[in-house]
Amino acid sequence: MRVLSGIQPTGNLHLGNYLGAIRNWVKMQDEMPAMAAQAGMANNGKNADSQCFFFLADMHSITVHEGREQRIRNVRDMAAALVASGIDPDRSVLFNQARVPAHAELAWLLNGTARIGWLNRMTQFKDKAGKDREGASVGLFVYPVLQAADILLYQATHVPVGEDQKQHLELSRDIATKFNTDFGADIFTLPAPIIPKESARIMSLRDGTAKMSKSDPSDLSRINLTDEDDAIMTKVKKAKTDPEPLPETAEGLAGRPEANNLVGIYATLSNSTPDTVCAEFAGKGFGAFKPALGELLVETLRPMRQRFLELRTDDAALDAILDKGAAKATAAAEPTLRAAYDAMGLMR
Ligand code: ADP
Ligand code: TRP
Repeated sequence: MRVLSGIQPTGNLHLGNYLGAIRNWVKMQDEMPAMAAQAGMANNGKNADSQCFFFLADMHSITVHEGREQRIRNVRDMAAALVASGIDPDRSVLFNQARVPAHAELAWLLNGTARIGWLNRMTQFKDKAGKDREGASVGLFVYPVLQAADILLYQATHVPVGEDQKQHLELSRDIATKFNTDFGADIFTLPAPIIPKESARIMSLRDGTAKMSKSDPSDLSRINLTDEDDAIMTKVKKAKTDPEPLPETAEGLAGRPEANNLVGIYATLSNSTPDTVCAEFAGKGFGAFKPALGELLVETLRPMRQRFLELRTDDAALDAILDKGAAKATAAAEPTLRAAYDAMGLMR
C-alpha cells in the first residue's frame, strides 16, 4: 500500500487548505500501520513497503507566475505548515518535486504516451486557461502528465485528493495502462483516488456560497494558519449569518449557506456530524454558537500556529527535512524510472 499526494505550495495557508486537504493526509499517515496490516493479511503479509509520500508540487507551480524569493518562501511555508499540522517527516516521506528530478524525467517519457485528445478534455485546463487558450502556457496544458508521473513513479495505490482532481487521476490510470500495453511490460500500478466522503468544502465567512480562498480580497473571509487567537475570535463573531436559531437537524440548514458552513466547520473540527452539532445547539442563536465555534477553532489552531512559527525561524532545518525526504523519494523512484527508460530502449 502506497499513499501519495501533492499540494501546490501557495502562500497564505487557511482553514480550507487544512480541513480540505492536509488533515486528510495526517489521518492517512496515522492510520497507515493499521490499514497496511489489514491489507497485509489479504496479501500474505507483504506490506513491508507500505508508506506515505507527501510532496510540495513546486514544479507544477511554474504554471503560476511567481518571483524567485516568493517561490522559495512558499515552499518553506508549506513544508512548515505540513509538519505543524502533523505530517511527521520520520514516518512519511516529505519533499518538494524540484529536489527529485525523476518527476520531470518520467513526465517527459510519459509525454510520448499521453494523447493531445486526452489532455484537451481536462476541465482544470479549460478553467485555468480561460478564454485565451492560445496564450496559455504549454506547462499548464501538460500539467496532468507531470501529475501522472508524480503518482506512477512511486507505484502509488491510494491518492487522497479533492473531487476536482478525480479527472487527473483517471488520466494517470489511462497513461499507465497505455504505457504498460505499448511496451509490453507491467511497469506502472494503477492508482485509485481517495476522495473523503464528507468532502469538507469550507466556505468564505463573508459569503456562504463562495469557497474560502487565499485570493479573496477580504481577510475577514478566511481564517489563516497564522491568525492570533483574538483575530480568530473576531472573524468568527463577524462571520455572516442569518437571524434564525440553529435547527434540530442538518436538514434545517438547507437554503442557509452561512449557517451550514459554520455548522460544517464545527462538525469537522470536532470529528462529529452536522446532525449531532444541530442536536446540541438546537434552538440557540448564533450569539451562543459563535463563541463555541471560535473557542474550538482557537484550541485547534493554536498549537499548529505555534509550531509553524517556530519552524519558520529556521530555514536550514526545514531545508534539511526536505533534503532528507528527497533522498528517500529518489531511492524509492529509481527502480520504476529505470524500468521505464529500459522498456523504451533508452539507455542511460
Ligand atoms: P486557494 O483556493 O486558497 O487558492 P488552493 O487552490 O491553493 O487554495 O488549494 C490548495 C489545497 O487546499 C487543494 O487541495 C484544495 O482542494 C484545498 N482547498 C483550498 N480551499 C479550500 C476550501 N475552501 N475548502 C476545502 N479545501 C480547500
Ligand atoms: N494537482 C493537484 C492539486 O492541484 C496537486 C498535485 C500535483 C497532486 N501532483 C499530484 C495531487 C499528485 C495528487 C497526486 O491539488
